[in-house]
Amino acid sequence: MTDAIDDLLVKLDLPAKIRLISGAGFFRFAGDESIGLAEMPVSDGPSGVRGEQWDERDPSVSLPSGTALAATWDRDLLTDIGALIAAEARRKDVYAVLGPTINLHRSPLGGRHFECFSEDPMLTAEIADAYVRAVQAHGVSACPKHYVANDSENERFTADVIADERTLRELYLYPFERSVEAGAWMVMAAYNSVNGATMTENDLLDEPLKGEWGFDGVVVSDWTAVRSTAGAAKGNDLAMPGPWELWGAPLEQAVRDGQVPESAIDDKVRRILRFAERVGALHGTPTPVPAFGEDAARQLVREAASLAMVLATNDGTLPLREPARVALLGSAAAEPRFMGGGSATVIPTRTTSPLQGLSEVLPVVYTPGVHLSENMIPVPLDLVTDPETGEPGLRLRYLDGDTVLASEHRGAGSLMLFGNPNAVQAKTIELRGRLRADMAGEWRIGFAGVGALTLTLDGEQVLDETVLPDGADPVEMLLNPPQRFVTRTLAEGEEVDVLVRMAPGGGFPAMGITCAVGRPRRSDDEEFAAAIELARTSDVAVVVVGTTEQIESEGFDRTTLRLPGRQDELVAAVAAANPRTVVVVNSGSPVEMPWRDDVAAVLLTWFPGQEFGSALADVLTGAAEPGGRLPTTWPKTIDDVPVLNTKPEPDNALPYSEGIHIGYRAWLKSGVAPAYPFGHGLGYTTWELDGLTVSGRTATVTARNTGARAGRQVVQAYLSRPDSAVDRPVRWLAGFAVVEAGAGESVSATVELPKRSFEHWTEQGWVVEPGSFTLRVGTSVTALPLTAEIG
Ligand code: BGC
Repeated sequence: MTDAIDDLLVKLDLPAKIRLISGAGFFRFAGDESIGLAEMPVSDGPSGVRGEQWDERDPSVSLPSGTALAATWDRDLLTDIGALIAAEARRKDVYAVLGPTINLHRSPLGGRHFECFSEDPMLTAEIADAYVRAVQAHGVSACPKHYVANDSENERFTADVIADERTLRELYLYPFERSVEAGAWMVMAAYNSVNGATMTENDLLDEPLKGEWGFDGVVVSDWTAVRSTAGAAKGNDLAMPGPWELWGAPLEQAVRDGQVPESAIDDKVRRILRFAERVGALHGTPTPVPAFGEDAARQLVREAASLAMVLATNDGTLPLREPARVALLGSAAAEPRFMGGGSATVIPTRTTSPLQGLSEVLPVVYTPGVHLSENMIPVPLDLVTDPETGEPGLRLRYLDGDTVLASEHRGAGSLMLFGNPNAVQAKTIELRGRLRADMAGEWRIGFAGVGALTLTLDGEQVLDETVLPDGADPVEMLLNPPQRFVTRTLAEGEEVDVLVRMAPGGGFPAMGITCAVGRPRRSDDEEFAAAIELARTSDVAVVVVGTTEQIESEGFDRTTLRLPGRQDELVAAVAAANPRTVVVVNSGSPVEMPWRDDVAAVLLTWFPGQEFGSALADVLTGAAEPGGRLPTTWPKTIDDVPVLNTKPEPDNALPYSEGIHIGYRAWLKSGVAPAYPFGHGLGYTTWELDGLTVSGRTATVTARNTGARAGRQVVQAYLSRPDSAVDRPVRWLAGFAVVEAGAGESVSATVELPKRSFEHWTEQGWVVEPGSFTLRVGTSVTALPLTAEIG
């Protein structure tokens, strides 16, 4: 292969080589016909494969988000999920998925916490390893990201993480090391700096990545992360999106001037050709991936969602046994978050909300109780028709003055336009629809976007404004643009012609336009009182609470762990009105739950993907067990959190001064008890563990299901070293195993303890401290009944 690649390389002149490493489109790597290399579309990928375009006409399967996948602790499931991701990639004609996201949950405030797996490097590495192997087994590249220490979002382009070598090696680099071992064909370099150099210019790309670990794939920059020509040409191999202006001609010049050796460019091109060979873009076609039928995909996502749900407490109310009436409350029950916001977003083929899912199997009555967001929503398809065709949806026109460049029917109220030649050429973009009020009252009608926008209702222009982005982050600007609206009192069935016109602004090579509405609604107090009344008069109350896109998404960190709006107040009042109150928490990361000891059960669902409602119905009725175990510690209050700050200091420095003590390691060190510890989660049966034996680095225990139904348990093994000569965590996860057993059945759980679990990083490299380690085995970091000495 090396010879074959070198044969191709000699056929390329310098400009051709530089074209290959500078990208060809927003989500497209360059090709070169003269050597049989196809262009290579890629797609964001952590929790579904969006495709090269962001377009509702080409929808995707929406998977549980990263935290949810890690909460399953289940490598076999990840193997199936990887096959589905690969099948989606092939269906969408993309060669690579930009995932998994394997940064760590250093602070619960981290904005992309939902997308990452865990606070623990080993659990993260195990899940990442399974993900990468499974996707790539089908000839589609994975792309573990963001290398490295992009563990929070605040000022992510300028933040400079200050961390010592041991901390990097043992925690933040470890999941990348394991992903490279798993054979990753691509790694994404992060926006942030580490110890003074941006990650596209950082020596960490040489060592340990390409040197010690032998990574022979492509280092792709995070989108727009290349901020220098020669500097980034050292370790970064490909600048995206393309064609990236700082590379291209300036890089060619830098080579001619001798600032960048041509051999460095050759190395990058070799890597790209090797990548192309692996994904089937060189001389031929990619390997076929077995297709996933729609039903099979739905079934897998539904199962994964219930395996991820963590039952934090339960007084026996769950599973529900034929309740006469269930009060379903919370605005997230009807408008939940299926996925996290930002580049992880996909447009699902279909979704089931808790309201839809539970209504199919339980006698549900619903009211939101709280208005979670003041924001309008993209106009729903059942309320709007395309004036040209009369179909549900909107008419999108690209205009240059009076010339119509293109006109198309669209089936979504919110559109993301990039990589689309018409969008680039158009001076204005127009979205028009005929809105039909499905209820009488005061409607809000408006738009979301950045640029010069107007709103015209029934031919009368009612808004005209140049809207500037709220923050500096381009992704946030694109995905969470400011909204403007007018109010109109409409009778039920009344129709209005709505026209949103936008001359794009913002200077980003992508744009979004949204036609938005806010339905009439009861006053906050009336709505709240209605919910309490429903709870009081029902058998059981199920309250679905959660975060919103405004507080938990890519591009910024959270500032609080409180649930937004009056949700805490709602849960407390509902629990006072009905002792059988079950709270379902729909957030990607921990939130404070001041009422948690006053309710009958708390179920944490994360962002569970498109089948949320069906999976929730399975778990609440007991058709499925809630399988999840916490991949991250849930605090009682933000004040208790031992590692919290994600705000860089005025000189951009973000010191990781806690060193190796993050997550449960820091909690154990601080001696403060969280609300729910790492590894915790209940099922619908009970277990006893006994008979721990150790042989070499293999631990075996007997897990007995002592309850009345079949169940699943995650047996966890932790090491500690009480009299160590080095600073160590109180204990650390060393291995785990998933077991299943029928009622009354005993099974043997075998936990492999990798050598690395015994090693620590020193200036001389990895070493095992002589002497014995204490092994403790159980079902969470603080429920560890079995002990043995090793070594
Ligand atoms: C994100 C990446 C993503 C890329 C392309 C960036 O802003 O950090 O995770 O893959 O955009 O969408």
